[in-house]
Amino acid sequence: MEESLYNIKRIRNDFPALNKILFFASAGVGPLPRSALVVMQKYNKGLRIDFSKKVWEEDPWREVRELAARLIHASPEEITLTPSTSTGINLLAGSLDWKQKDNIVLNDLEYPANVYPWIYQADLHDLEIRMVPSKNGVVSRDDLLKAIDKRTRVLAVSHVEFGTGYRNDVAALAEAVHKVNGLICVDAIQSLGVLKVDVKALDIDVLATGGYKWLCGPLGTGFAYVREDLLTDLKRPIANYMNLPSEDGETVWNALVAGKNYPTDHASLAQTGKRFEDHGLSPTLFKGFATALEYLLALEEDAIESRISELVSYCIERLCEEKIELITPKPLNERAGIVTLRVPFDLSRPKQVAELETKLRDARIKAHPRAGGLRLSIHFFNTTQDIDRVVNFIKKL
Ligand SMILES: Cc1ncc(COP(=O)(O)O)c(C=O)c1O
Repeated sequence: MEESLYNIKRIRNDFPALNKILFFASAGVGPLPRSALVVMQKYNKGLRIDFSKKVWEEDPWREVRELAARLIHASPEEITLTPSTSTGINLLAGSLDWKQKDNIVLNDLEYPANVYPWIYQADLHDLEIRMVPSKNGVVSRDDLLKAIDKRTRVLAVSHVEFGTGYRNDVAALAEAVHKVNGLICVDAIQSLGVLKVDVKALDIDVLATGGYKWLCGPLGTGFAYVREDLLTDLKRPIANYMNLPSEDGETVWNALVAGKNYPTDHASLAQTGKRFEDHGLSPTLFKGFATALEYLLALEEDAIESRISELVSYCIERLCEEKIELITPKPLNERAGIVTLRVPFDLSRPKQVAELETKLRDARIKAHPRAGGLRLSIHFFNTTQDIDRVVNFIKKL
C-alpha cells in the first residue's frame, strides 16, 4: 500500500522523531519535519544574528494565511492566525452580540478548549448551555439536531472528537443550525491533516485549529477561519497597532519615523481576518508552520486521507483479530485518524495510568491514554509494520 502512494522511506526520513520511537501520538503533539526545524534555525539566525534585510522583509504570517487557506479551501482574507485552537474559538465566543437566553449546543465528548470559552460567555450573558450526552463514545447526530431550536446561536462541535475519535457529520449539522439562523463553530484540530476539509462544501461559519498536531507544525501556532460575510459583524473586544488596514499601518509607521503625530480620531480595523489577530505571534514559529504546511500540501490531501483511512482499517482489523475491544466506532464515515481501544488498566486510577505510561515508554512507543482507553493516532508516516508492532505490544498487556 505505502509504496504505491508515497516513497515512505523518504517520508519517514523527513521526521527525525520516527527514528527514535514508534509514533502514535499525532492527536497529542505531532513530530516536526526536519525541514521546519532547519528553516526556523536559519530564519532566526537571519533575524537576530545577521539582521539580514532580506530576512526581515519576509512575511511568514502571510505565507501561513495563504497555505492555510489552500488547505481548507478558503481565501487568505478569511484566515486569522492564532497561537492555539482556544484563541480561535474565543474569537467567535467573545465577539458575538449575545442576547439573554440564547442557547449554545455542545456535547460531552468535547475537549475543554471548545467548552470553557462558551461557558464563560454563558456566565457573562445569561445564556443556556445545552450539553448533549454521548452514548458509547458517539454523540448521535439526531440528538444534536433535537437540541437545536430557534434560540440556538451557536452549535460548537469538533469535526473529530479527541478521545473516541468519533467523526461528526459537520455538513448535516451546519445545515440544521443554519435553518434557525445559528452558526456552526468547528474545532478541526483532530481532522486537519487527516481528512480533506473544504469549509465551503461543509458550510462552516467558523473553524479553529492549532498547528501542532496532525499538521506537524510548531507549538504556539494555529489559525481560525471566519466566513467572509461574518468578518465585519464580529466585534472582538481587542485592538492593536499591528493589524490595522495596510494603508493606516503605513501612515502610523511613517509618522513614527518622521516624529509626527499619527491619527487618533478612531481605531481602524482591517476588513479581513487579520482584524482579529493578536499581536506577538512569533515569526519564527510561523515560518516553521509555513514549512510544515508546505510539506503536507505537497503530499496532497486526498492521498493523505485515503492512506490514513487504509491504515486505520488495517489497525481495526488487526485489533479485532486479537479480540481487543474498540472504543472508536468502526464505520469509515464515523472515524478519521484516531483508534482508541480498551486496555486492561483502570484509567480512573492515576497509579494504573502511570503504570501504562511506563510500559509504553519502556517499549519506546509514544501513544496516550484517553477516553478510558489507549489512543493510537495513525498518520501518513505510519506503516502496517508499525501497526503490527503496537498490536503485539497491546496484546501482551
Ligand atoms: C479537540 C481538541 N481541541 C483543542 C485541543 C487543544 O486546544 P489548544 O490548541 O487551545 O491547546 C485539543 C488538544 O488535545 C483537542 O484534542
